[in-house]
Amino acid sequence: MVPLRALWLAWALLGVARACPEPCACVDKYAHQFADCAYKELREVPEGLPANVTTLSLSANKITVLRRGAFADVTQVTSLWLAHNEVRTVEPGALAVLSQLKNLDLSHNLISSFPWSDLRNLSALQLLKMNHNRLGSLPRDALGALPDLRSLRINNNRLRTLAPGTFDALSALSHLQLYHNPFHCSCSLLWLQAWAASTRVSLPEPDSIACASPPALQGVPVHRLPALSCVPPSVRLSAEPPPEAPGSPLPAGLALMLHCVAEGHPTPRLQWQLQIPGGTIAPTPTPAPAWPAPPANPRFLALTNGSLLVPLLSAKEAGVYTCRAHNELGANSTSLRVAVAAAGPPKHAPGSGEDSEGQAPTSERKSTAKGRGNSVLPSKPEGKIKAWGMLEETAEGRSPQDPPIGILCVISCWFDCFVILPGVYTRSLLFLGAFNSGMQGAKPRGIGEAGNEWGGFAAGWVSAD
Ligand SMILES: *[C@@H]1O[C@H](CO)[C@@H](O)[C@H](O)[C@H]1NC(C)=O
Ligand SMILES: *[C@@H]1O[C@H](CO)[C@@H](O)[C@H](O)[C@H]1NC(C)=O
Ligand SMILES: *[C@@H]1O[C@H](CO)[C@@H](O)[C@H](O)[C@H]1NC(C)=O
Ligand SMILES: *[C@@H]1O[C@H](CO)[C@@H](O)[C@H](O)[C@H]1NC(C)=O
Repeated sequence: MVPLRALWLAWALLGVARACPEPCACVDKYAHQFADCAYKELREVPEGLPANVTTLSLSANKITVLRRGAFADVTQVTSLWLAHNEVRTVEPGALAVLSQLKNLDLSHNLISSFPWSDLRNLSALQLLKMNHNRLGSLPRDALGALPDLRSLRINNNRLRTLAPGTFDALSALSHLQLYHNPFHCSCSLLWLQAWAASTRVSLPEPDSIACASPPALQGVPVHRLPALSCVPPSVRLSAEPPPEAPGSPLPAGLALMLHCVAEGHPTPRLQWQLQIPGGTIAPTPTPAPAWPAPPANPRFLALTNGSLLVPLLSAKEAGVYTCRAHNELGANSTSLRVAVAAAGPPKHAPGSGEDSEGQAPTSERKSTAKGRGNSVLPSKPEGKIKAWGMLEETAEGRSPQDPPIGILCVISCWFDCFVILPGVYTRSLLFLGAFNSGMQGAKPRGIGEAGNEWGGFAAGWVSAD
């Protein structure tokens, strides 16, 4: 091979080359100039081809790259045969110069990415063979400007999907080979089923235009796809405890749980995005921890079921909490602003009826008062006072000259907090989720009941004088 190539190079240098490169046979026939360079073990497109060559066969060689400029001197080519090579790389611009090209055969190569924009210049193209390559995608507008394209062969590639309308602009198309691609049959490919059913384009081997995934549809021909349920996502957000009014602040020290519920089909994926002081964070969803094993104390805990737990709310956790859901049909998101009230003395006298920071609704206030009225731990479930009531209670139970509420939070085990409120002799216990049997002090019935009843991560306060 090397001597041949050297000979041909020498020939080119001698300037004789315009006739025909050495390994090729050039024939002038029926007013066409043929250059036949097939089966020559060529590794590059040869130089020195006749300038008026119209049919150039380079099939069955070992060409690996089509360089920009490789065809710059043969712009009269109408048929370019490059099948059965080892082409991996087609440099942008290499083919764009072939504005007379009608037939392009690049089949049986190793092409995984292709400079589709070059096709915009090939407006005379009638036959495009790209079958048996490694194409993983076909951009929506890749074939837009080919008004004369009659036959397109992209079978035996690695196409997983096709954008709706990919073939719409090909007004002359009559033959389309799509089979033997590993299509992922989901909502986004349903258009192909409808298009195949209505088009006049012939689609050979329809039973081999089939799904490779999802597993349930593997092997099912696209034209026999079952009806798929396709619904874009919608998102609902709720807070626990719920804010009294949108944007009203929550007391610091609280455990906040946000529930994000997304509907849609396929099942949407959820992602939290928290815009908090110091930046935006996107906690990775993890499965709910197995109780009672406590994980390391997290600042945020996003669960795979869509809930987000903020174990200990402070001003640093105030911000905008966004839950975004997406599936292949689209995305949707909902945000909630979490405001946190500074933990400080109340500005109003107890019992004034108005309060600046205790944001609990009246109903909560009542249950708070009721809970406080018991001098022992409440024994009925109604005695469980939501965290909302906490600030309310302290506000009512404190005189204005009391020092600021000191919240001493001893994490005795995960999320169990002991809160000591000076001057009130109120011990409060924040419990979260399944009740922990290791809890200090007398084990009140009420807590255990409430813990079971609330299950999971529900937060609550139980207080005793
Ligand atoms: C191509 O050019 C060669 C001379 O360079 C000439 O002999 C031949 O007739 C031309 N062929 C066509 C089809 O124009
Ligand atoms: C595209 O074709 C036009 C003529 O139709 C030509 O002038 C232009 O140079 C070509 N573009 C490229 C990148 O070769
Ligand atoms: C997002 O979901 C809401 C309903 O929750 C719906 O009204 C809205 O149209 C959806 N937006 C998009 C872009 O799908
Ligand atoms: C997610 O799981 C947690 C703990 O198992 C539970 O408290 C919460 O309610 C769940 N969220 C949803 C939206 O089901």
